[in-house]
Amino acid sequence: MRLVHTVKEVREQVKEWRMEGLSIGLVPTMGFLHEGHQSLIAASVKENDRTVVSIFVNPTQFGPNEDFEAYPRDIEKDMALCDETGADLIFNPEPEEMYPDGFCTYTNITGLGDALCGKSRPIHFKGVCTVVSKLFNIVCSDRAYFGEKDAQQLAIIKRMVKDMNIPVEIKGCPIVREQDGLAKSSRNTYLNEKERAAALILSKAIFAGHDMVNAGERDAKKIVGAMTEIIKSEPLAVIDYVEMVNMDTMQPVDVVEGNILCAIAVKIGKTRLIDNFNDNIRQATP
Ligand code: PAF
Repeated sequence: MRLVHTVKEVREQVKEWRMEGLSIGLVPTMGFLHEGHQSLIAASVKENDRTVVSIFVNPTQFGPNEDFEAYPRDIEKDMALCDETGADLIFNPEPEEMYPDGFCTYTNITGLGDALCGKSRPIHFKGVCTVVSKLFNIVCSDRAYFGEKDAQQLAIIKRMVKDMNIPVEIKGCPIVREQDGLAKSSRNTYLNEKERAAALILSKAIFAGHDMVNAGERDAKKIVGAMTEIIKSEPLAVIDYVEMVNMDTMQPVDVVEGNILCAIAVKIGKTRLIDNFNDNIRQATP
């Protein structure tokens, strides 16, 4: 496995692989890799001849009062995880490599990016779309892998690829959880012991909401209400949103039918965590 820092090095490597007729998978990450990322890398290794993992804490997707500086970084540990999972190349650029002097072109998405996380993180998805489209142009992979924990991000990237005719297949991989249910996230490391225990309220609410759907409840307000009450029972939890939306539009629904996403964002202390469930409910026949 190689570690490279420049666009030129990636392009040269990719050109060689292409000349050998090899297929390429890309796993974009911000590093501090955990089993969630590992499942994406493993999926790419299985489905492609070569796998590129990008590790880049992207400044343009963080708001002015967010955790860009504090975001955890550990390239040595990340390299070991990539190596043991079978990745072939790590692309770990400096911010100046991705955003050289004079940089002023952004990729943005309207509508989908304004809902859910977009309400409290107004520039977030513009930054994500910009860096991900750059990575697609740099690596030119056949496939790219994203976690379903960031369900809105995944939906946005799928839309961007379709709208901009980017020739890459987007693959979503299931949420990976800790044994006690907490969705894996690099930000879980911010939690102290008390907050870590309190953070379990997210998965508790998600499982309870999904159980209601599985039991046949179709009133979105009732499900969102029940989930909200569960989260409010935890004194350290501050709700950003609890919403049941249509997966394609990210707009709230009244009735649970079709491809729905139930998504939550909750602050535990200073740490903002997200979780969700997705279901495809066949419409009731009249
Ligand atoms: O999901 C992430 O880690 C980031 O948003 C991504 C897709 C790597 C873009 O910086």
